[in-house]
Amino acid sequence: QEWFHYRTGELHVENLCLNDIAREVPTPFYCYSAEAMRWAYSILSDALSPIGVSICFAVKANSNIAVLRLLSECGCGMDIVSAGELERALTAGAPASQIIFSGVGKTRAEIARALEAGIHQINVESAAEIEVVAEVARSLGLRATIALRVNPDVDAKTHAKITTATRGSKFGIAIDDIPELYARAAARPELNVQGLAVHIGSQVQDLSPFRRAFAAMAALVTALREKGLEVPRLDLGGGIGIAVGDNPGPDIAEYAAIIAETVGNLGCHLTVEPGRWLVGRAGLLVTELLYLKDGQDGPIAIVDAGMNDLVRPALYDAKHPALPFHQAKGAAASPRYRIVGPICESSDDFGAYEGLGELKAGTLLAFDCAGAYGASMASTYNSRDLVAEILVDGDHFRTIRRRQSIREMLELEDAGDWQSGSAP
Ligand code: LLP
Repeated sequence: QEWFHYRTGELHVENLCLNDIAREVPTPFYCYSAEAMRWAYSILSDALSPIGVSICFAVKANSNIAVLRLLSECGCGMDIVSAGELERALTAGAPASQIIFSGVGKTRAEIARALEAGIHQINVESAAEIEVVAEVARSLGLRATIALRVNPDVDAKTHAKITTATRGSKFGIAIDDIPELYARAAARPELNVQGLAVHIGSQVQDLSPFRRAFAAMAALVTALREKGLEVPRLDLGGGIGIAVGDNPGPDIAEYAAIIAETVGNLGCHLTVEPGRWLVGRAGLLVTELLYLKDGQDGPIAIVDAGMNDLVRPALYDAKHPALPFHQAKGAAASPRYRIVGPICESSDDFGAYEGLGELKAGTLLAFDCAGAYGASMASTYNSRDLVAEILVDGDHFRTIRRRQSIREMLELEDAGDWQSGSAP
């Protein structure tokens, strides 16, 4: 499972030497391994399909249409959160019948587009949204297939900014409010209420919160059925964490066992919505060292990738391991570097790194575990180009997104015509 590995001391992605790619593609750029994504899908699918669980990829983790196509060709469905992601999924060839629409703030236009496309299910997150979905469906002469997203008040024990199912969270409908709302929604002719959804958070390492949340869902399904309501579907959300650095990451067999034990006997059609697990480990962010300078606590390495390209360190204090292109010799003795980006913000800081060997201007490095929430969260802050994305598959690589130019960025703007006085 080593898609990123050293061969004769050189960092390779599958069968390609990353240095050969970097000769053709200007840094920074994202580089993904197709095999790593297929492998992740097959591990999850091998564990979950025996217990009848379908997989929908959380498109927000990596929304490049080549990635969506690759996963779709594996048989994976899609979990979207906007009309933009719907267009991406459909453009990539994902069948509408395998698309779930999640999200706390869907617009009428987005709901209409999803209904017209005939997607599998809309996960509704509030009483007000139930009304809007019903109205939009009625106006289109369609019936909306929905599930209600439950807030089970379970702490996922992950970073606060990616915890989504505690009582104070904006997501989902409080578990105590579900029975009444479910019954009311089920009585609406415009709505086809198929079940419940839950998502407790992201990069979850300790699996016990999943057990608590899924057990709460099982009890809720039983309670609804006792009231004579039908609950044929259960969407268990995403959130399964990945191994990063020395942390081994959760065990997929155990995750599957938890699902089987808690909700496996309900007779519900089960779905999960992993994002990070399918693509997180499959991507690198490749960067070049621009300058070294002396900092108070040791050398500072300024690289050409910044928080606009990979925001996770700034936003979640995430540490992405750095891989040198050439396997470091005498690495243990090499200095401890603080690696920072070029953006004019103190939080544009990837953290402290050891064992990289001696760094100098021109050294190429790759930040690991950057396949999820990397490119998809990138911005043009500081008027920097959105970087290229490269997909390696065996002996070949392909540019799956070319670098955006400043020209393309400026075409969207209008400075006004000061001469004729039309400027604001
Ligand atoms: N389903 C729903 C409803 C979600 O909100 C999310 C993620 C997922 C599935 C997929 O979660 P995953 O399996 O990827 O953990 N930007 C953050 C992560 C935010 C996750 C938001 N929701 C990060 O970079 O860590």
